[in-house]
Amino acid sequence: MDRTAKFWDRMAARYVRQPVKDKESYQKKLEITRGYLRPDMEVLEFGCGSGATALTHAPHVKHVKAIDISSNMLDVGRQKANETGVANITFLHDTIEEFDAPEESFGVVLGLSILHLLSNKEAAIAKVHKLLKPGGIFVSSTICAADSSFIFNLATPIGRLFGLVFRAFTATDLKKAVTDAGFTIDHEWRPGAGKAVFLIAKKSN
Ligand SMILES: C[S@@+](CC[C@H](N)C(=O)[O-])C[C@H]1O[C@@H](n2cnc3c(N)ncnc32)[C@H](O)[C@@H]1O
Repeated sequence: MDRTAKFWDRMAARYVRQPVKDKESYQKKLEITRGYLRPDMEVLEFGCGSGATALTHAPHVKHVKAIDISSNMLDVGRQKANETGVANITFLHDTIEEFDAPEESFGVVLGLSILHLLSNKEAAIAKVHKLLKPGGIFVSSTICAADSSFIFNLATPIGRLFGLVFRAFTATDLKKAVTDAGFTIDHEWRPGAGKAVFLIAKKSN
């Protein structure tokens, strides 16, 4: 975990400077997510990075708990929240693996560009399921690199060189992990071949 935190701490400034690669798809994902948000909701975002998504959704919910393994990423998020006067996000240095909260605490959990970076996505998805209230929503966007043979061959070993966990799996594997955890997939969208798979998964009532 230390290596992962160090990797993301080193990456933070560059990551924040990078423009969003596919703005149109990102906006569409925000809009679809927005349709599930309610003013009384408690939201968890894990692997929140610099908090850009949390900051966008925060005005539409009661509170967002935004956790990340990288202190440098969190510092950027806190600074942006201060600058923009968003007061209902708590940025917390934590991992999804160690994050501790009572079961059924959240109405929505966001995990964006993160599931492929975990050594055990199944355990994380099962934890998300526990953390959600009945009827709660898990929003994820995930690179499924094993659907593309070129990336599949390179991403995992290259990632390891830089201290990054990178798991290559297919969209089918991902959806199986989500449904095996007890979710029903409410919405599925992949903007194009090789793009991240966007899923809205629902916990039963
Ligand atoms: C690719 S970035 C995505 C950031 C943000 N969700 C986004 O969509 O721009 C992955 C983030 O996950 C964080 N991260 C990596 N492993 C984590 C873990 N086990 N628990 C929590 N955060 C983690 C990294 O520090 C980094 O900020």
